[in-house]
Amino acid sequence: MKTVVEVKNVYKLFGNNSQKLLQQVKKSKLSKEKVLKETGHTIGLKNINLSVNEGEIFVVMGLSGSGKSTLIRCINRIIEPTEGEIYINGENILKMNNKQLTNLRRNKISMVFQSFALLPHKTVLDNVAFGLELQSVKKEIRRQRAQETLDIVNLGGYAHSMPSELSGGMQQRVGLARALCTSPEILLMDEAFSALDPLIRSEMQDELINIHHSMKKTIIFITHDLDEALKIGDRIAIMKDGEIVQIGTPEDILKGPANDYVKDFVQNVNRAKVITASNIMKRKEYLTLPKEGLRTAIKKMQDASISSLFVVNKDKMLKGIVTIDKAVKLIKEKKDNIEEIIDININTVSPDTKIEDIMPMFLNCPFPVAVTDNGKFLGIVFKSAVINGIIGGAQ
Ligand SMILES: Nc1ncnc2c1ncn2[C@@H]1O[C@H](COP(=O)(O)OP(=O)(O)OP(=O)(O)O)[C@@H](O)[C@H]1O
Ligand SMILES: [Mg+2]
Repeated sequence: MKTVVEVKNVYKLFGNNSQKLLQQVKKSKLSKEKVLKETGHTIGLKNINLSVNEGEIFVVMGLSGSGKSTLIRCINRIIEPTEGEIYINGENILKMNNKQLTNLRRNKISMVFQSFALLPHKTVLDNVAFGLELQSVKKEIRRQRAQETLDIVNLGGYAHSMPSELSGGMQQRVGLARALCTSPEILLMDEAFSALDPLIRSEMQDELINIHHSMKKTIIFITHDLDEALKIGDRIAIMKDGEIVQIGTPEDILKGPANDYVKDFVQNVNRAKVITASNIMKRKEYLTLPKEGLRTAIKKMQDASISSLFVVNKDKMLKGIVTIDKAVKLIKEKKDNIEEIIDININTVSPDTKIEDIMPMFLNCPFPVAVTDNGKFLGIVFKSAVINGIIGGAQ
């Protein structure tokens, strides 16, 4: 996996004497509050270390004032860190001169703001094309590219509207299109959806996920909402008072909150939207044909105290399911061709299917759900595992 952004030992102190004070802050364990009281300096970032992989959505989450914006602004050097290193594609951006920085901001990194920050006197199309204008791309080409990007965010028909004629959600789509139009490698989004009302916000999250799937951009996304973080993040960094308290996948964070601060966030989360089939599936209970047959099937079901068993072929492709009742009946009839009783009416899901989408499958089908990848059997989700997953118990 390629690392696109790497932040190493980064500190940011706000105040007149930050360089001098930094050594003190590093040595002592003084809290942010105390440092402010005693020195008038604010700890913005304290020993931040993280790396963002190519193509991932990396979410930075934390309460107001925890340092999220400071961190993201250091990454495009709108803010100068007091100390540390920040690499983009292996290049230390803190060593770049102005020309290199302008180049970086025009070509590699785009930012989407909470406040949309559109140019009010330019049309939607010209707003989207603005980054290309800065790159001196010819008018026709930039208009064409801007139109294509507007189509991607479903605003193709609004090219000639003015920003003030659009709703908040639409304006934020324009903001997103503007950021995407220069085809940057990295997208920085600072609370980009926080000003939108919940329904529109949820739509924008879905749209971002879709765009991410098709364009594979590296995205650093800031939010103070854990539900949003869990929904869109491949990994999440949780910040408190300028420090990172935990970095992990949504599952890591739900299953093992690093401290009480994270635990407080996690308590109010809807687990059904986060836990996936791969987190709760069992892998052992299945039957492989032709190497195993009817009698093995019955023994396996008895040993595991289950009433049905998935059947796969030697390449592990899923064939269906057999039940203990039918298996016993077949034996009683002195037959042993298990193929006769394989039921193909089963529910299958991919490993990343969320519990909330698996739950309804148990309503109209008595069998467990098979987890497959292109037909290949990976594991089983039992109803009990789904229930445990939701209440956060043992799995
Ligand atoms: N220019 C500045 N001068 C002085 N202090 C600042 C400056 N910018 C930020 N800070 C302080 O740094 C800390 C982190 O602020 P930051 O804006 O990064 O927080 P945030 O996590 O983005 O919060 P929010 O969710 O409210 O946007 C805060 O205590 C803030 O007061
Ligand atoms: Mg902020």
